[in-house]
Amino acid sequence: MNVKGIFVLIVLVSLHVRLLAADAEEGKKLFQARCASCHNVHKKLTGPALAGVDGRRPEDWIIRFVKSSQSMIKTGDAAALAIFNEYNQVVMPDHPDLNDEQVRSIIAFIKAEAAAAPKDDAPFARPGKLTPNLMPLSIYNFPFMLAYLLLIIVIVLLLVFLVNIKSIEKKMHEGNGPES
Ligand code: HEC
Repeated sequence: MNVKGIFVLIVLVSLHVRLLAADAEEGKKLFQARCASCHNVHKKLTGPALAGVDGRRPEDWIIRFVKSSQSMIKTGDAAALAIFNEYNQVVMPDHPDLNDEQVRSIIAFIKAEAAAAPKDDAPFARPGKLTPNLMPLSIYNFPFMLAYLLLIIVIVLLLVFLVNIKSIEKKMHEGNGPES
């Protein structure tokens, strides 16, 4: 592979790592702006602690609830009604402007946060429990990661193929040049 090809590869791969990081990063920003006034990942505030919410509720339930919890309560969703009553019927505001992807990024942030921070709120960081920013998605979202890896492999193969075609074409032209 020539220098240009390798350069393109490096750009592609680094772009890709940034995309992975962007997901939980975006979730963190959204969470802090829209949810942190009532929610903490580990502690109960106005709303429930959200650590483990991805385990106790299906993803599409969470997405619907975040977009409009009251309409779920009105249509008689038992789980939504139960948590509403448990929290003294405090109304969680609707977030109809968030799309599914954005709510998923918030869930990704909650997962990462729940896994990374010590549960007992120790005032110091424990080296054994610290996880680099980029890790959680790769560890806790395996199908996602696998799909991404496959995509990279396909892109690399395609690139190698394209680069080779170019040089084969070039050779053919050079070979034919003097005769025609
Ligand atoms: C004004 C306070 C408030 C804000 C802001 C808020 N929530 Fe809530 N949330 C609540 C309350 C209170 C409940 C408990 C259910 C109820 O009362 O309807 C709740 C419940 C939830 C639940 C269900 C938890 C469970 O255990 O089933 C999820 C998920 C949730 N909120 C996510 C979010 C997300 C994500 C955001 C930000 C986009 C957010 N909330 C913003 C107050 C809030």
